[in-house]
Amino acid sequence: MDVYEAVESRRAVRGFTDRPVPEQTLRRVLSAAAHAPSGSNLQPWHSYVLTGAPLAELKKRAGERLAAGDPWDEPEYEQYPAALKSPYRERRAAFGEQRYGSLGIPREDVEARQRAASANWDCFGAPAALFCYLDRDLCRPQWSDAGMYLQTVMLLLRAEGLHSCPQMAWAKFHESVAEILVPPKELLLFCGLSIGFEDTAADTGRTPRAPLDETVTFVGG
Ligand SMILES: Cc1cc2nc3c(=O)[nH]c(=O)nc-3n(C[C@H](O)[C@H](O)[C@H](O)COP(=O)(O)O)c2cc1C
Repeated sequence: MDVYEAVESRRAVRGFTDRPVPEQTLRRVLSAAAHAPSGSNLQPWHSYVLTGAPLAELKKRAGERLAAGDPWDEPEYEQYPAALKSPYRERRAAFGEQRYGSLGIPREDVEARQRAASANWDCFGAPAALFCYLDRDLCRPQWSDAGMYLQTVMLLLRAEGLHSCPQMAWAKFHESVAEILVPPKELLLFCGLSIGFEDTAADTGRTPRAPLDETVTFVGG
């Protein structure tokens, strides 16, 4: 698969089959992804890969918390600014319309939206998940390093015929994740990444992007 194909075919997939992901494949992907760039080669990411019984246990605990109406864990970082300004506010709204509209859920049906969102904590049925932690003492550029690393993982997964969904949603249940993974105290959970083979019946299509001239300025030439 060439790089364009990997980039174009990567989507946040929100429906997976239960076909297991071979550990060898995950090892191959994560060994290659270790070549992602990072400032001064800090390689600040700490990945935990969860499959089998411990992943099932995490999903069960998260499901029980959802069913009990448990509040989210104390946030360890702000996921978005409190007042999201234009054009991000409009892009976020358009994304919500597309995501829930494709499931036939109207804007005003908050409960149905929440039900659909709760699939996050079942990893959308995925049989494998990666949890990316960062040292809480590090700075913004190291968070960006983690983003590059995760994108590298996602593209390599495409080369293996696998799909993924990055999930900040897991940060809302970081304490449950920590109960299973027992990470050192100095680490905080940035993002989960569900991994598996796509359930094509759940395909809701591609999410559009802003036109190039909204996000790129060419100067000179
Ligand atoms: C850091 C990060 C966190 C995300 N968190 C979630 C999440 O918690 N749940 C979810 O369904 N999608 C999540 N997404 C997926 C985005 O919604 C998705 O990437 C975006 O809408 C663009 O769609 P595409 O990836 O399918 O092209 C996240 C993406 C990123 C990069």
